[in-house]
Amino acid sequence: MSLQADPASLPRLLTGIPVHGAMDLKEHVAIHGEAPFAKRRERRGAGTLIDLVEQAGLLGRGGAAFPAAAKMRAVVGAGRSRIGVRPIVLANAAEGEPASLKDRVLLEGLPHLVLDGGVLAARAVGADELILCIDESAGPALQSATSAIRERERTGGDALKVSIQPVPVGYVSGQESALVNLCSGGPAKPTLTPPMPFQRGVRRRPTLINNAETLAHLALIARYGPQWFRQLGTQAHPGSTLLTLSGAVTHPGVYEIEYGAPLASLIEAAGGTSTPIRAALLGGYAGTWFDGAAISTLALSNDHLAPHDASLGAGIAVLLSQETCPVAETSRVTRWLAGQSAGQCGPCVHGLGAIAGAIEEFAAGTASAETGQRTVRWASQVKGRGACRHPDGVVGFVTSALDVFAEEFADHARHGPCDACSRARELPLPMPIELATAA
Ligand SMILES: Cc1cc2nc3c(=O)[nH]c(=O)nc-3n(C[C@H](O)[C@H](O)[C@H](O)COP(=O)(O)O)c2cc1C
Ligand code: SF4
Repeated sequence: MSLQADPASLPRLLTGIPVHGAMDLKEHVAIHGEAPFAKRRERRGAGTLIDLVEQAGLLGRGGAAFPAAAKMRAVVGAGRSRIGVRPIVLANAAEGEPASLKDRVLLEGLPHLVLDGGVLAARAVGADELILCIDESAGPALQSATSAIRERERTGGDALKVSIQPVPVGYVSGQESALVNLCSGGPAKPTLTPPMPFQRGVRRRPTLINNAETLAHLALIARYGPQWFRQLGTQAHPGSTLLTLSGAVTHPGVYEIEYGAPLASLIEAAGGTSTPIRAALLGGYAGTWFDGAAISTLALSNDHLAPHDASLGAGIAVLLSQETCPVAETSRVTRWLAGQSAGQCGPCVHGLGAIAGAIEEFAAGTASAETGQRTVRWASQVKGRGACRHPDGVVGFVTSALDVFAEEFADHARHGPCDACSRARELPLPMPIELATAA
């Protein structure tokens, strides 16, 4: 059944995704039809796409859920104010978050959907260049994207320059100003803003940066319309989203869900939990912990999560089992996150290092009565003080761990490491890291 005929069904983005390799252009067009605004005579109307995106209420899937149409309008406005300067579009598939896989799955299997979205966004904002920024360690995604670009060139091309920028592995490499820096010939490190990328981005040109999944949704909205898009999801958070589910679940992987779906139903669809659950992390390593007992009450949309000061981030849920030690897990991930600082802002470099050290004291059993209060105080001093939001994310992760795992932290402070401290770690990290232990 076509997506149009049954607008409330799933999957949408993942329709027809091959088990291995990439969907080719012919099959992509057979499923979704030709991309609109592609023919020369239609291109002038591409600006109306921004209205469609606005009516759809499309929010960015890169973490901050920023309204996609507002960003596009800002780029159009900046482009108009600088005669002769054409904007650039970046598709962000850097996916620096270790618990996320959705962008590489999308690009690996459905590169033409992302390319359609990028090309359409470029037409809508008047850009003449599209750069796919892809995690350099995501070999199959890089291959699929490269082949898809060649395939499109062989069939006439998209009338704009399309290229790939491999992005060095790193938590902050996918932050938007880091990508601007990288694509302008510098290192993948965030820079001070303003100017914002929409004002002065890659090679000083107005730059639209969207997550790869955001662009894939845009490709479907352009074809099926905003009413279709809103048939799923909530009023405030419409549509479907990709969500990477990992940890203590029978079938971890990337799922497409309707915003507002219960977390419990997603876990059920993934074959259930593989072992009793201590807690769930929503939103990844800039996200929020929830006690395992709360899982049955949680719905997966930012409007449902906002009262808990939480969000889905880039669409991430990790289930932590009761087998592992949450203090040791928090310690290991916090030290890694502190090490991901781009080393440019004092509060980020020193503050995150100090917070990681305090959590390590808990894990090692050397924390004093004041260590918890000190950590919370440092966290409040670091928040909002970086050039990018990396410190804010780490602080959220740590303070919610201190809250949800309060008993375990208190227990470690009193009695030192527990039996579970030495068990295999569950939270994913790209590289092994030595845990600091008591001297
Ligand atoms: C530390 C940090 C890391 C980020 N990493 C990514 C990333 O890997 N991929 C991504 O799409 N957005 C990432 N973002 C968000 C981007 O800065 C930007 O907001 C996003 O790409 C915009 O796309 P969207 O509006 O479609 O969500 C990161 C932000 C921060 C603060
Ligand atoms: S806040 Fe941290 S990660 Fe962000 S730019 Fe400053 S030093 Fe780099």
